[in-house]
Amino acid sequence: TKKTTISTLLKMKQQNQKITALTAYDASFAKLFDEQGVDMMLIGDSLGMVLQGSDDTLSVTIDEIAYHTRAVRKGTQRAFVVADMPFMSYATVEQSYTNAAALMAAGASMVKVEGGDWLIDTIRGLNLRGVPVCGHLGLTPQSVHVIGGFKVQGRDDLQAEQLMEQALALVQAGIQMLVLECVPTALASKISQAVAIPVIGIGAGSGTDGQILVMHDMFGISANYMPKFSKNYLEQTGDIREAVKAYIEEVQSGAFPSEQHSFN
Ligand code: KIV
Ligand code: NA
Repeated sequence: TKKTTISTLLKMKQQNQKITALTAYDASFAKLFDEQGVDMMLIGDSLGMVLQGSDDTLSVTIDEIAYHTRAVRKGTQRAFVVADMPFMSYATVEQSYTNAAALMAAGASMVKVEGGDWLIDTIRGLNLRGVPVCGHLGLTPQSVHVIGGFKVQGRDDLQAEQLMEQALALVQAGIQMLVLECVPTALASKISQAVAIPVIGIGAGSGTDGQILVMHDMFGISANYMPKFSKNYLEQTGDIREAVKAYIEEVQSGAFPSEQHSFN
């Protein structure tokens, strides 16, 4: 088995092949997803919600992400493994080095941070020290209390323009991948086309270079509410492996996300 690297994912973007991603938190699901051919797995701080039952992601710690990253790493042979830097674990550049080191040592191949140009020094510094970084723009759940709820971002022209500028600034700083969450389809497409790095969408329409879903939402088993942009693949297949297969096929064909699972 050939390991998926950031070069593999970059080539997929260049060849117009959609990248498939899911969150994963343990070795058993990681192995199952890996065997079905999921390209990338994210140890998301969404684990605070789907594993721990919290209303948001704010209470998740670096040790918890590291614990789940070790488990996912052990279950994964081929997929690219990305780990979330949790709330306040990258509040300063120095903190980001210590905490990113813990996630890389746990088996991550890239770390993800939420936010715009305030992260430029962090991204540049991590990169220079051998830590690849994924950005995350649009709805950034760690800022839920600043935003005032889980809401679609970039809906008006000014917001859209700012989002594009932030994306370009992060790319300039050295991010090698970008997650766009809950942004209108047209804007997410435009950003994906404007940058050379792979853009992975969630609630961002079908024009991004790939898609990610929280695994519990994809199976329709979340303790929390089911977001509009997510789709229950277990319901239509009745089997966990078939559900993952169907998700992969629909992302690759462009069938998912449809208008129904996107924002205008
Ligand atoms: O925590 C998470 O699962 C995420 C994805 C939704 C992108 O950040
Ligand atoms: Na996250």
